[in-house]
Amino acid sequence: MSAARGFSNAMRPVARQLTKSAAQKRTFVAALGAATRATAAVSRPALAGRVQQQTRGVKTIDFAGTKEDVYEREDWPKEKLLEYFKNDTLALIGYGSQGHGQGLNLRDNGLNVIIGVRKEGKSWKDAIQDGWVPGKNLFEVDEAISKGTIIMNLLSDAAQSETWPHIKPQITKGKTLYFSHGFSPVFKDRTNVDVPADVDVILVAPKGSGRTVRSLFREGRGINSSVAVFQDVTGKAEEKAIAMGVAVGSGYLYKTTFEKEVYSDLYGERGCLMGGIHGMFLAQYEVLRERGHSPSEAFNETVEEATQSLYPLIGSHGMDWMYEACSTTARRGAIDWTPRFKDALKPVFNSLYDSVKNGEETQRSLDYNGQKDYREKFEAEMEEIRGMEIWRAGKAVRSLRPENQK
Ligand SMILES: NC(=O)c1ccc[n+]([C@@H]2O[C@H](COP(=O)([O-])OP(=O)(O)OC[C@H]3O[C@@H](n4cnc5c(N)ncnc54)[C@H](OP(=O)(O)O)[C@@H]3O)[C@@H](O)[C@H]2O)c1
Repeated sequence: MSAARGFSNAMRPVARQLTKSAAQKRTFVAALGAATRATAAVSRPALAGRVQQQTRGVKTIDFAGTKEDVYEREDWPKEKLLEYFKNDTLALIGYGSQGHGQGLNLRDNGLNVIIGVRKEGKSWKDAIQDGWVPGKNLFEVDEAISKGTIIMNLLSDAAQSETWPHIKPQITKGKTLYFSHGFSPVFKDRTNVDVPADVDVILVAPKGSGRTVRSLFREGRGINSSVAVFQDVTGKAEEKAIAMGVAVGSGYLYKTTFEKEVYSDLYGERGCLMGGIHGMFLAQYEVLRERGHSPSEAFNETVEEATQSLYPLIGSHGMDWMYEACSTTARRGAIDWTPRFKDALKPVFNSLYDSVKNGEETQRSLDYNGQKDYREKFEAEMEEIRGMEIWRAGKAVRSLRPENQK
């Protein structure tokens, strides 16, 4: 099937679902974008075991020649979620970025969710600020676990490892264990998180910050998440994972495994999402400065134009579109230099993947984040980054944006 035919096929079922509310219109636009990006051809395999009135379900999408299963929110309307989880208490342990986003979305969806955090910690105060009430839906960790049927382990990854000997005996038969990262069970040789053999173990990993999980939900949109099953003792683990994914605020869920999720996640954040892109910004900026360019010019050509103009366009339309939309001069040079950057960087990415897969990155994270004074050490590193000329110049550049001028 040609890309053009695949695209129009993808649009038809999406368009049929277009409804009147603004929120749903936004969902449609997101769906349109996703399908466009993937030049998707959609098929609808039989929905084994699902209720009859469902018109939408798992979609098999052709991502550039590879077929993958994608689940969507429309298959789990709120009433169905309430029915599905009517006998469950979702005990969400930890109230950091994800705990905040997922917890508030679950609460707004009307589910029976309680928070479990340590009483002396910052999270306890944050939870109260967000309207959780001690003794009603805010408890200390052990008490929340004892009340919960689905235990959502949203402690920091280092804390998941540290607290596991204490938590494990409380994850008894009949409960479900939920993670938002494959980190702890996949690297169990290093984290010691060996899950009990008689519980379902599922994952919903939002592909973004917990703050975005919350803000997209509030806008009537939904974040994309990975969904996976580590252990299925009831035969219902996958269905439960998908339902949980929708309940915490996902718009779309991509099926993966715990291993693939943690490898790609650790690799991505160290690479193009943050570490790699920061390294590239620094290298480009430093050369411009060493060659006599002013801080504002170096920053504008390195970061400002990228984040304010080009990256959002690449996000909306893709790199092919970007090359077609830019000047002939820019296009010629960018296409010519791409292979040189790729060849220089690919060995670095390969060694990064090795370091993720062999557990070195996990060990480093556990060792560093497990230290008592890790917050102080992190703050010292932040001080250094904040003090870099590039980011100080950036602050001045951003202050000139009309919207930032009072
Ligand atoms: N952040 C993201 O953008 C993101 C995205 C996708 C997936 N995830 C995954 O989601 C999970 C949660 O991540 P997060 O970023 O939301 O959490 P986080 O901010 O890293 O973790 C904070 C929570 O862990 C608690 N905690 C830390 N040490 C503890 C200890 N020794 N005993 C008890 N509680 C302890 C904190 O409580 P106190 O306030 O009491 O210290 C706080 O509630 C992780 O598996 C992470 O990989 C995160």
